[in-house]
Amino acid sequence: MVLYPDVQKRTQPKIDSVVGKDQLPTFEDRASLPYIDAVLRETFRWQPISCLGIPHATSSDDTYVGYFIPKGSLFLGITWNEKRYPNASRFIPERFIDVHGALTNDDPAQYIFGFDRRGCPGWYTADTFVWSAIVTMLATLDISSVKDDQGIVISFTPTFITGLVG
Ligand code: HEM
Repeated sequence: MVLYPDVQKRTQPKIDSVVGKDQLPTFEDRASLPYIDAVLRETFRWQPISCLGIPHATSSDDTYVGYFIPKGSLFLGITWNEKRYPNASRFIPERFIDVHGALTNDDPAQYIFGFDRRGCPGWYTADTFVWSAIVTMLATLDISSVKDDQGIVISFTPTFITGLVG
């Protein structure tokens, strides 16, 4: 939100109109706040906690769409996709909103939590508590850059650090 204050500005009137200013959002409000889900989806897409997923290896020889894959091959599921998401490094929740203001069918949760049988068992827990954290912060806070002694904004560039969860 520090880097994309315009997004924050767009969310707050939407929350106020659905929830009001005297109470906190609840899960009953979720269906009426598609833009917040778009912020959640864009958060998952933009900075996934593991942009290469978790590595897997084949336990036997296999063939997939015509490719022979020997036993012991290493697989990484790359979740960043510049072709599917133009300006992929920019945070743009509108990617997930259609012309009618509804959510599209494109949900990054379908790939940032891994795939099929070995996918993340915490998917729904994570989805719920990250949504709750996002909507509560947007409903209660104005997030902005820190300023130095001269009143000049201290800018920063977000970066990943090494480790499983950067
Ligand atoms: C935004 C939050 C989260 C993300 C993006 C995430 C993502 C992932 C990914 C990519 C994997 C590897 C799946 C694969 O092998 O293909 C994984 C595995 C796993 N996750 Fe999560 N996860 C999140 C939150 C959680 C939470 C909240 C829990 C538990 C409550 C959890 C528990 C696990 C466990 C136990 C595995 C290992 C499953 C296995 O291979 O047996 N995760 N997660």
